[in-house]
Amino acid sequence: MTALDEIHAFLACRTPQGWIDEALKHPDVLLIDHANCEKKAAATALNLLFKYIDRPELLQKLSKLAREELRHFEQVTALMKRRGIEYAPVSSARYAGGLRECMRTSEPGRLVDVLIIGAFIEARSCERFAALAPYLDDELKKFYESLLASESRHYRDYLNLAERYAGRDISDRVQLFREREAELIASADNEFRFHSGVPV
Ligand SMILES: [Fe+2]
Ligand SMILES: [Fe+2]
Repeated sequence: MTALDEIHAFLACRTPQGWIDEALKHPDVLLIDHANCEKKAAATALNLLFKYIDRPELLQKLSKLAREELRHFEQVTALMKRRGIEYAPVSSARYAGGLRECMRTSEPGRLVDVLIIGAFIEARSCERFAALAPYLDDELKKFYESLLASESRHYRDYLNLAERYAGRDISDRVQLFREREAELIASADNEFRFHSGVPV
């Protein structure tokens, strides 16, 4: 089983063709929001480094992850510059907020849920890079294929940490977020973003 097969098995649905069609019509928004996602991924990991200083495995894995996300941020913004795309403000998708609505508020449930959400966000990014790749120009295609490898590793790291800190089987929590995530991806959405539903 390849890393991408594992991601496809983890997620409850594939990216709808309607989203891919919209992404190809809005290459600027795609790259700007992608840059925002990399920045937010780094910020989320950094926040966890501040909040959970008593979890050594988390500190090691997420510090490295934050560095990689910032490296991706540098790569996306450099590509935008080469293409003459101005970094204009783009509002956030409903996606991450929609996932966090299902998060528990007391520990260690909160940490475990944050890590599971991280796994889904990484897995979906990975799935979307793969879904878009066949339609892209050579430079962007190569770049997205290179990101696929690191985001699939991030997905694994988040899921392993969630299992470690839960201290029990987490399949019920994973299933809950899996359903919520698929709903956010497969349903109609007012706007197009990297993690939006189907734009209408
Ligand atoms: Fe990334
Ligand atoms: Fe990532």
